[in-house]
Amino acid sequence: MPSPTTPEEKPEVLITAARIRARVVELGAEITRDYAGRSLVLVGVLKGCFVFLADLARTVDLPLEVDFMGISSYEGKATTGVVRITVDLARPIEGKDVLLVEDIVDSGLTMDYLLKNLATRKPRSLKVCALLEKPAAARRQVAIDYRGFQIEDGFAVGYGLDQDERFRNLPYVGLVR
Ligand code: IMP
Ligand code: MG
Repeated sequence: MPSPTTPEEKPEVLITAARIRARVVELGAEITRDYAGRSLVLVGVLKGCFVFLADLARTVDLPLEVDFMGISSYEGKATTGVVRITVDLARPIEGKDVLLVEDIVDSGLTMDYLLKNLATRKPRSLKVCALLEKPAAARRQVAIDYRGFQIEDGFAVGYGLDQDERFRNLPYVGLVR
C-alpha cells in the first residue's frame, strides 16, 4: 500500500484571495483604459504567472492575444543568478503592444533579461505588469508599469508562486518561513 502523503503545513496568509481579486479587477480596468482602441499581447512568464494571467486576462476588455515565455533562474529558495529561456514565444511580437505578466519581481534580474530580449524583437510598446514586488536592495532598475502589491522580504507562495513546485494552487499569497 502506498504510504499516505504527509499533510503539508499551510503557509501563513499574506494577501487574501478577496484582496487579490479586487486588485486584479483594478489592474484590468487600468490596462483597458491605457490601451483603449488598441489590441494587446499578454506575455506570461511561466510558470508562476499562470493563475494571475488567467484572472487578469478576463478583466481586460480589449482584443487580446496570450503568449508565454519560460524562464528559469531559481532552484528552491535561492536564485542561481543565471537566467535561462526554457520556452520561447510561439508568435512574433514585431509591431505589437506587449505587456509582460510576471508573478513577482525580486532582484529584477529575470525582468531585466526578458525586457532586453523582447526589445530586440521590435514590439510597438513593451510594458510590465507584476502581481508582487519585493523591496530588494540590489534591485536592477526595472520599471513596473502595473503592480499588484508591494511585499516585505520573505518567500511568497501561492496564487501561482511556488517553493520547489509546491503551493502554486493556494488561492491566496502566503509566506514561507
Ligand atoms: P528576480 O529575477 O530575482 O526578480 O526573480 C524573479 C523570479 O524569481 C520570479 O519570476 C519568481 O519565479 C521567482 N521568485 C522570486 N522571489 C520569489 C518568491 O518570494 N516566491 C516565489 N518565487 C519567487
Ligand atoms: Mg518560480
